[in-house]
Amino acid sequence: MQPETAMQHEMTQILAAIQAGDTPAEDFAHLKLPDSYRAVTVHADEAEMFAGLDSRDKDPRRSLHVEDVATPELGPGEAIVAVMASAINYNSVWTSIFEPVSTFSFLKRYGKVSELTRRHDLPYHVIGSDLAGVVLRTGPGVNKWKPGDEVVAHCLSVELEDAEGHDDTMLDPQQRIWGFETNFGGLAHLALVKTNQLMPKPAHLTWEEAASPGLVNSTAYRQLVSKNGAAMKQGDVVLIWGASGGLGSYATQMALNGGAIPVCVVSSPDKAQICRAMGADLIIDRAAEGYKFWKSETEQDPKEWQRFGARIRELTGGEDPDIVFEHPGRETFGASVYVAKRGGKIVTCASTSGFQHSYDNRYLWMNLKSIIGSHFANYREAWEANRLIDKGMIHPTLSRSYALEDTGQAAYDVHRNLHQGKVGVLCLAPEEGLGVRDAGKRERLLPAINRFRDV
Ligand SMILES: NC(=O)c1ccc[n+]([C@@H]2O[C@H](COP(=O)([O-])OP(=O)(O)OC[C@H]3O[C@@H](n4cnc5c(N)ncnc54)[C@H](OP(=O)(O)O)[C@@H]3O)[C@@H](O)[C@H]2O)c1
Repeated sequence: MQPETAMQHEMTQILAAIQAGDTPAEDFAHLKLPDSYRAVTVHADEAEMFAGLDSRDKDPRRSLHVEDVATPELGPGEAIVAVMASAINYNSVWTSIFEPVSTFSFLKRYGKVSELTRRHDLPYHVIGSDLAGVVLRTGPGVNKWKPGDEVVAHCLSVELEDAEGHDDTMLDPQQRIWGFETNFGGLAHLALVKTNQLMPKPAHLTWEEAASPGLVNSTAYRQLVSKNGAAMKQGDVVLIWGASGGLGSYATQMALNGGAIPVCVVSSPDKAQICRAMGADLIIDRAAEGYKFWKSETEQDPKEWQRFGARIRELTGGEDPDIVFEHPGRETFGASVYVAKRGGKIVTCASTSGFQHSYDNRYLWMNLKSIIGSHFANYREAWEANRLIDKGMIHPTLSRSYALEDTGQAAYDVHRNLHQGKVGVLCLAPEEGLGVRDAGKRERLLPAINRFRDV
């Protein structure tokens, strides 16, 4: 057996302090931080490795590495967190296939902002935009958080030195997604965050459950519920693409929790079953019903939009969607604009199938519909979304978890749409099921927490 390295020894001490469950803050503050840590990375010198391949054939298992990297220096307003668990987001897929651009261009640009941000511009990128873990160190100027706090982190990183971001931090010109447009992300044993990313970890959840909602839950909250998005209200009919996927599984729960009527679009009977388990009963299996919105590479088929719209009306008793929750992009956008109700909203946060959208504008202007762009969430929206999880009103949609060493496979599953809900990654947590601090509350909510498990 290999002798334990200094890094492994220090990580073992950190893990023991966390596992004890009652370690005082002072003891956490005195734990030695290792000089290096295990992390999932992509490499700048491999950014061209998939040149010429179709997106589908670009394999995250080849580009994602698990290796030791140097622990970054801690700056003002920041924290180093011991990461117990993280999760795969679609941005981890984009990073790993270097699409639409290599994330090293983001790191380079960020590196130019200040002396402190220069740390991020490295030939490797530690990725990951979710975490659940424990604060180990806080930098100068941090008062609200201390070593030992059990936290989750949202992924909005802002500098807030300009006026524009002071109504809504998403409008800050220096707005970035942590672990995608910044370095030192959550798919690792340690992470560097700004402390205004931190939120309390819901006590009834395991580490991997707590880590899984973050990015998508906050995004769905702004996109669907917030006044900055679609401002959903009771009784609204909400068409949700990918309703059992990362974003959609939260949008579906929020629609039901908020008294709206979700119409869930999925692509298999299993996924339809998950939507039923969440409490939705208006479901369209797009694969079984065979919608083909594009006749050729360049031409859409309005007859298919009509067939889809008629199906929605059949389910709703003749009503059209007040809100369309969009993210597939090119393949569905023409249909989304067509089926939205007169005066309805199409709210989009992504373009998974292609970002050049086309739609028939007559349906938009003549029917007074609007298209709203939405991106992640500000701190307050992320906090409100996390509060819903903490209150047991919205639940994690974790289907399975992988070891950190197998992150490539986890990202591959999401890239190939082989997954349900969210896919978790165990970082320092040696096994699943740890970190629950309120067992009674968990017991009451267990069936809802487990809806997506192993389906
Ligand atoms: N702007 C932001 O802040 C933000 C935040 C989170 C995610 N995103 C983006 O949003 C997208 C979805 O993320 P996610 O986490 O929900 O991913 P996900 O877990 O893969 O779920 C997306 C679902 O969309 C459906 N879908 C995929 N391609 C489709 C197509 N061509 N037509 C119709 N439905 C399709 C699939 O469901 P079915 O096969 O069951 O229909 C899939 O499960 C990604 O592009 C991601 O980068 C953006």
